[in-house]
Amino acid sequence: MTKTGLFISFEGIDGAGKSTHIEGLAAAFKAQGRQVTLTREPGGTPLAEKLRELVLHDAMDPLTEALLVFAARRDHLNQVIEPALARGDVVLCDRFTDATFAYQGGGRGFDLDVLRQLEQWVQGRAEGLRQPDVTVWFELDPAIAAERLASARVPDRFEAQPVAFFQQVSGGYAARAEVDAQRFVRLNAAQTREAVWQQLHQQFVQRGLLSAQ
Ligand code: TMP
Repeated sequence: MTKTGLFISFEGIDGAGKSTHIEGLAAAFKAQGRQVTLTREPGGTPLAEKLRELVLHDAMDPLTEALLVFAARRDHLNQVIEPALARGDVVLCDRFTDATFAYQGGGRGFDLDVLRQLEQWVQGRAEGLRQPDVTVWFELDPAIAAERLASARVPDRFEAQPVAFFQQVSGGYAARAEVDAQRFVRLNAAQTREAVWQQLHQQFVQRGLLSAQ
């Protein structure tokens, strides 16, 4: 099993239930002797966490929103993600750039060409664009996600959006998954938590990233 850095992102609409599985995967990698860096976007550094607060709670136009999530990403890549990958860590990142294409691109309808340009500026390296090695997409019908979120905490600017917004977000994820199918592990998040975990674990075993136990 490889000891080089491994970059894994987790995606899905709000309410899809990523969190417990990210923790489960962190425990599974640690049990196999890997160092794990657990982080999230927007956020993951003191500066990026400040930007997260603004993005989630302050009114702004779509370009400002896109610039802020990419600014947070730049700092996060420089301060946390790249150093962790260079050490050989498994980096588990709760959301990454696919969320920008899904939420700002799909949900807000913001210009995808501008997003692609920002992606180049922020993630471009001599070796090519920095992208996750694997992206786990928790797929869930927005109507089911809305039911789950109804009983949750006070909603932020995204969680407060109607089902139609999340249908567009899902469309944004689908478009990204289509052009980069190899990178995506697609999970049916409507199942029980245990069934989703089994599916996720099996996918990682099949890809040779975790050993069966
Ligand atoms: P979280 O609640 O899963 O931590 O995600 C925070 C919210 O930010 C979520 O509603 C999705 C949104 N978001 C964007 O709109 N664009 C982005 O680039 C990222 C990373 C998250």
